[in-house]
Amino acid sequence: DAGKSGYDHYMLKEIHEQPSGIRECLRGRLSELTGRVTLDLLEGTDWDEPVTLVACGTSYHAALFGAALLRRWGINAQAILASQFHADQLPLTSSSLVLGVTQSGETADTLRALREAQRAGATTLALTNVVGSSAARECDHVCYIRAGPEISVAATKSFASQQVALTMVAALLSDHRSRELIESLRSIPDAIQQVLDTTQARTVAETYRDAESYFFIGRDLHYPVALEGALKMKEITYKHAEGFAAGELKHGPLALVGEQTPVFALVTGEGRAANKTIGNIKEVEARGVPIVAITDGRADVERYADHVLSVPDLEPIASSVVANVQLQLVAYWVANELGRSIDKPRHLAKSVTVE
Ligand code: G6P
Repeated sequence: DAGKSGYDHYMLKEIHEQPSGIRECLRGRLSELTGRVTLDLLEGTDWDEPVTLVACGTSYHAALFGAALLRRWGINAQAILASQFHADQLPLTSSSLVLGVTQSGETADTLRALREAQRAGATTLALTNVVGSSAARECDHVCYIRAGPEISVAATKSFASQQVALTMVAALLSDHRSRELIESLRSIPDAIQQVLDTTQARTVAETYRDAESYFFIGRDLHYPVALEGALKMKEITYKHAEGFAAGELKHGPLALVGEQTPVFALVTGEGRAANKTIGNIKEVEARGVPIVAITDGRADVERYADHVLSVPDLEPIASSVVANVQLQLVAYWVANELGRSIDKPRHLAKSVTVE
């Protein structure tokens, strides 16, 4: 218990460690002056597109986020579940870059995928939390996310640090230079602290602890966060939860929604994407479904929401990192209400070393 620093669970402690973890992840890796990421990585390495990211579980959601960012900045990239990765089914060459995203650096599926990629001649890069882990030792290059030890089986702070580290890797690979991006990354720790200082998530958890199932929707960079919100809910509450791309709701999941299935909708910023998600919210709201909006003060979202989980007004990357913290807290408080074994959920392991 000493290691919990007064928190009831490691998971809650680790959720609260995210501001310091992200500061550590960013330390010495950004230049305000030039707007560049100064991550010391891949220098002198010949690599070419497409970039393939492989991962499992929560790390796969971070990989989806990283691949979306790379594409946004003009690099052909895709995320593949490590268990679904087959080097012989991809056009890998000696200049291909394969990035393994793994908190522990020991996940069997991810290590197998990286080894296959290496045998096919690709350059491999491990994005990991654990210094000296198998992935760190075996890959050609390594980028540490510096989240600090994560004890709780359900990953929390490692996901936030993976998102931030992958943002830096994506900026480096695409030579994306932007002072605004750097400022925005620097603003994440304080923005997360603001979320941690509210009690909104606990109230939402108390309200919906007995729901039949939980749905999460998000578009673009919020899509991996919707998946992660649902995974967190499943892992520690043992209740059914699903994450969807907001645009997919009408292609099936809409048949499942009702009064007992709250929909958590991630919608921040202005513009077409946000407006489309508002359209999706209206569709569910019209069917009497409770809406929990994770939003940054948009009146046109709050109007349709039964509950609001606020995030500060930030650019999309930072906004996704911070919005996820609200979902971590909801999952934590629902599990707490239900008296679950939060740090060690049944049937699950922190690091899965079999394929
Ligand atoms: C297990 C853990 C998850 C984790 C996944 C991948 O299933 O319970 O929390 O996301 O492994 O782990 P890794 O260490 O490769 O990120």
